[in-house]
Amino acid sequence: MAPPPHRLLLVVVAAAAALPAAIVAEGNMPVTEALMQLKKSFTNSSSLSSWLITDKDGDKSPCAPDSHEWHGVVCSGGRVTGLRLSGLELGGTIDVNALASFPRLRSVSFARNNFSGPLPAFHQLKALKSMYLSNNQFSGSIPEGFFGNLSHLKKLWLNGNQLNGSIPASITQATSLLELHLDRNAFTGELPPAPPPALKSLNVSGNDLEGVVPEAFRKFDASRFAGNEYLCYVPTNTKQCKREQTVVSSSVRVAVVFATLLVSAVVMVIILRACSSSQPSSRARSLDMEGLEEKPPVYMVKQASTTSQKRSASWLGRRIGSSGLGHRRSASAKVDDLSSRSGGDLVMVNNSKGAFGLADLMKAAAEVIGSGGLGSAYKAVMANGVAVVVKRARDMNRATKDAFEAEMRRLGAVRHANLLPPLAYHYRSDEKLLVYEYIPKGSLLYVLHGDRGMDYAALDWPMRLKVAVGVARGAAFLHAELADHEVPHGNLKSANILLAPDFEPLLADFGFSGLINHAPSTQSSMFARCAPECVAGHPVSAKSDVYCLGVVLLELLTGKFPTQYLHNAKGGTDLVMWATSAMADGFERDLLDPAIMAKWKFAQQDMTRLIQVAVDCVEADPEKRPDMKEVAARVEEVVAAALATVRERQEERGGEDPASRSSHAEYVRTGSIQRVTSIGERSSRRGSDDYSYGIS
Ligand SMILES: *[C@@H]1O[C@H](CO)[C@@H](O)[C@H](O)[C@H]1NC(C)=O
Ligand SMILES: *[C@@H]1O[C@H](CO)[C@@H](O)[C@H](O)[C@H]1NC(C)=O
Ligand SMILES: *[C@@H]1O[C@H](CO)[C@@H](O)[C@H](O)[C@H]1NC(C)=O
Ligand SMILES: *[C@@H]1O[C@H](CO)[C@@H](O)[C@H](O)[C@H]1NC(C)=O
Ligand SMILES: *[C@@H]1O[C@H](CO)[C@@H](O)[C@H](O)[C@H]1NC(C)=O
Repeated sequence: MAPPPHRLLLVVVAAAAALPAAIVAEGNMPVTEALMQLKKSFTNSSSLSSWLITDKDGDKSPCAPDSHEWHGVVCSGGRVTGLRLSGLELGGTIDVNALASFPRLRSVSFARNNFSGPLPAFHQLKALKSMYLSNNQFSGSIPEGFFGNLSHLKKLWLNGNQLNGSIPASITQATSLLELHLDRNAFTGELPPAPPPALKSLNVSGNDLEGVVPEAFRKFDASRFAGNEYLCYVPTNTKQCKREQTVVSSSVRVAVVFATLLVSAVVMVIILRACSSSQPSSRARSLDMEGLEEKPPVYMVKQASTTSQKRSASWLGRRIGSSGLGHRRSASAKVDDLSSRSGGDLVMVNNSKGAFGLADLMKAAAEVIGSGGLGSAYKAVMANGVAVVVKRARDMNRATKDAFEAEMRRLGAVRHANLLPPLAYHYRSDEKLLVYEYIPKGSLLYVLHGDRGMDYAALDWPMRLKVAVGVARGAAFLHAELADHEVPHGNLKSANILLAPDFEPLLADFGFSGLINHAPSTQSSMFARCAPECVAGHPVSAKSDVYCLGVVLLELLTGKFPTQYLHNAKGGTDLVMWATSAMADGFERDLLDPAIMAKWKFAQQDMTRLIQVAVDCVEADPEKRPDMKEVAARVEEVVAAALATVRERQEERGGEDPASRSSHAEYVRTGSIQRVTSIGERSSRRGSDDYSYGIS
């Protein structure tokens, strides 16, 4: 970073000139001289022609009453308090020593210029309250201790530069910081454990951050973290939350990578042990554990809408490019002719959304919405306005073609208010496409742990009762309808529970147990195999679904993200252990989601009863678990009683319960499930994170 010779000369001259003044005035050189020194550190300072020492002014301060105007110099009480130098096409560097001679300086704006090089040492200006340095070319990293002395700093805008490295943990020492805008830089690494205590406004989107957003940051909605390819707003296994480490740059990295490998290896061993009992010998495909090794079907992303273009393109770029960074490639570059390759078309198994073919899908605007255990998923809006989700399922080769087709017809014919059957499928020997109706609100997982927006607010106690009973009804129906299945649902988790506009839950991705390969690699595509008996080596069974339902009920009541959904046990809460021990010790109140407890304290008894049902479902011994029919009956009963309690309470208050009124408004507002929404609605309305839709 050596400055060009002429600038070096300037700096040397300026420094030499400044020295005597600094000594004489104890760091406070005359204001005019300091400004001239500052100007000298800029290149192309023609816009500052008013910064000059005239014969008339002499070295009088620009803040003196009769001084000529110095462009952008803000005075108060005869002292320089601010510099407003934004949008002046200034270049070069900023001489912080010169700025240090203004003891009353509180605010500097150098935004929208062409400054480059490392961030100036503004941390020496301890009294500064605002720094606006947006949209320049500053590069390099923020020094680790940058925030150590900035206890007065309220506003820091560094967006739109080329800053890299991690966001220093010292940020928490900026105790007055209200606004922190770091978007559109190249920051890497994980977020610090907590934001500064007073922070009101944050934006870190458009960087290369990774990991899971720490809980303490989640008071800011997901959009503030968008555009970081490997940053997950909540712990999830439907998105990769860590950059693949190809270049190992330090011993710390080595340790991290090694630890990760070790954990994966242990998990693999456990799964191999657990699920290999009745299996034909199979290749261990450890890469599939990541759930992300898919090549995107280029034909699906060829017409990405403007709102989703960036993500589609980068999603594509990550897999096609070698570096995963900066390598963007036009999504239309290569179009596979799928139908000519496979010679097949879509087979409709459910006509509730009308009939369509592969050609309609290929012409549709499409958006990648995620990648999970089953494979990748895309949202496609066809020309007739119908929006569907297309899931590319790998590892669905257990059944013969005839058996697969018969099974799909059977699943497509399932009709229940709480089930989302497939609409169509496309069969190829190496992969299958499954088409579902698109449900705009997204999954229970997202509504509970995602942006925590309006839908989360609407998910009050009566609404959670509705979800609980709907899920139980759907599951019980499946257990009757698919009683001959090894495990009737097989994949019951909040990511696969979609919420209709009226919050009626819709179970998706059920009934695949006879189709999914019986191999260790499919562990992640069948959540039921996480039930303790399966981990202990016993085969999956209908009781495994009961366990999964228990986890969903606990998640719904506690509002916590269950570790059971992750294969790396990083993040989340072990809900099963927590709930079981809290119930045993009489601390059930601790379990309840504070978000509902605040307004619905009177319902605590009903909440506890529902938790008891959940705890019985997650009993480690499957023999001791109730069967699904019994669970559903108990949930029905508890929910009916709980809704009666709510009604009673509302009548006592003369129907004036604000909490229930707002949820009613939400019902009305969102309208009918049949409404087809335009592409990008989901991503623009709620940020564009993969876990917002049920995948897997
Ligand atoms: C210098 O600044 C002037 C306006 O102040 C602008 O028109 C010009 O493009 C700038 N040149 C460079 C090289 O920054
Ligand atoms: C910005 O600064 C760079 C050198 O740092 C220079 O090459 C470029 O011309 C400048 N651009 C403008 C618009 O001033
Ligand atoms: C950060 O950017 C600087 C200058 O652009 C570069 O020299 C350095 O290698 C970068 N550091 C990292 C960790 O990418
Ligand atoms: C904070 O200020 C003190 C006193 O001036 C100084 O010794 C220390 O190095 C500064 N810390 C940082 C991180 O700049
Ligand atoms: C956050 O930054 C991104 C990128 O600069 C911008 O598009 C978005 O509007 C910002 N969000 C808010 C709420 O300021």
